[in-house]
Amino acid sequence: MEDKVVEIIEKHRKDDAKLLAILHDVQDEFGYIPEDAIKVIARELKMKKGEIYDTASFYSFFRFKPEGQHEVLVCDCIVCHIKGAEDIIKRLEEEFKVTMGETTKDGKYTFKMVKGLGHCEKSPVMMVDGKLYGNLTPERAVEILRRCEQ
Ligand code: FES
Repeated sequence: MEDKVVEIIEKHRKDDAKLLAILHDVQDEFGYIPEDAIKVIARELKMKKGEIYDTASFYSFFRFKPEGQHEVLVCDCIVCHIKGAEDIIKRLEEEFKVTMGETTKDGKYTFKMVKGLGHCEKSPVMMVDGKLYGNLTPERAVEILRRCEQ
């Protein structure tokens, strides 16, 4: 019996690996996993769309919406929070008409709130496309992002 159970586990393990590889490739191709792609995958693998979403949403690196041109990570961990991250977040949300976790309507920025960027000595901080900006004020944060548009 044990051999049979192991065989069954192996079979499913391979299927999950196959599904994950497909999802990775789709995301690499389109930048995210579109709803239409999920439909095609479900049809081809004879799975339910819900099963695919369940598997994919377990992994935080899969995205189901397109990302903006610029990724903006705003730290709201303890030190940044004490030094004014909340005001920065509020100002950015007002200025760009989004809430953290969303992409602006023009597709320019995706805002994400994160817990720690490892540069507490420069807090409050944000990271734009991998570049760190520290000692921020709400006005300076907006200014930095407006400069990205030029
Ligand atoms: S708390 Fe924000 S970088 Fe450390």
